Amino acid sequence: MSIDPLSDAKIVESWRKNAGPWTSAVRESQIESRTLVTNQAIIDAVVGRSPNVVLVIGCGEGWLVRALAAQGIRAIGVDVVPDLIERAARAGGGEFHVASYEALADGELRIKVDVAAANFALLGKNSVNDLIHRAPTLLSEKGALIVQTLHPLVATGDLPYVDGWRTGSWAGFSADFTDPAPWYFRTIESWVRLFSESGFHILEVREPLHPKTQKPASALFIAEVSG
Ligand SMILES: C[S@@+](CC[C@H](N)C(=O)[O-])C[C@H]1O[C@@H](n2cnc3c(N)ncnc32)[C@H](O)[C@@H]1O
Repeated sequence: MSIDPLSDAKIVESWRKNAGPWTSAVRESQIESRTLVTNQAIIDAVVGRSPNVVLVIGCGEGWLVRALAAQGIRAIGVDVVPDLIERAARAGGGEFHVASYEALADGELRIKVDVAAANFALLGKNSVNDLIHRAPTLLSEKGALIVQTLHPLVATGDLPYVDGWRTGSWAGFSADFTDPAPWYFRTIESWVRLFSESGFHILEVREPLHPKTQKPASALFIAEVSG
């Protein structure tokens, strides 16, 4: 049976195919907005919480885990793609596990962390909704959820500013990439609703600016469990 091209399952299938080129793109600093802005933005947000233990959700080849380890912070990276987790483990710096968002939402990883951080990794619909709904159970008291994602105002392009599936593209990436992953577009209002319906209150929304374009390079949410 073929996979629906606009689905959570297709996202995972596409990322499985692109583990090698993705690792090169990240490790060779091929993505300018990351090196100029967004890498430091997520590091600052996480370190600003002074965490002992951090869970990096959808960690890819593991750069954020290594960056946190360099600051003496214990970090655990999880990703659904075994090839990425193997590459991350080989590079070292933290603990890495193969786990899908569905598995995290089902409570398979029995841990409590001070920060759960996702960097451009919450790309799907139901997998992300379910994960965020269960995220409070992953956090210690006063723990925080930190999500950096595409800024909806920039990412919407010429399409209507409404939630919905979008086809992927590797425009601007090397020719080694294939079969781009689709992603589920969410407005700011929709992100805020997802966090609040899941029991979080948002402490801060940051909009790091790209120094060349003066447009937001991302939207970054810092949220705590309400109550
Ligand atoms: C754009 S990459 C970002 C990787 C990493 N956070 C970084 O900053 O380089 C998106 C990541 O999300 C992971 N991912 C997507 N859907 C997932 C799911 N359902 N469960 C676990 N990981 C998933 C992919 O495998 C991929 O590594």
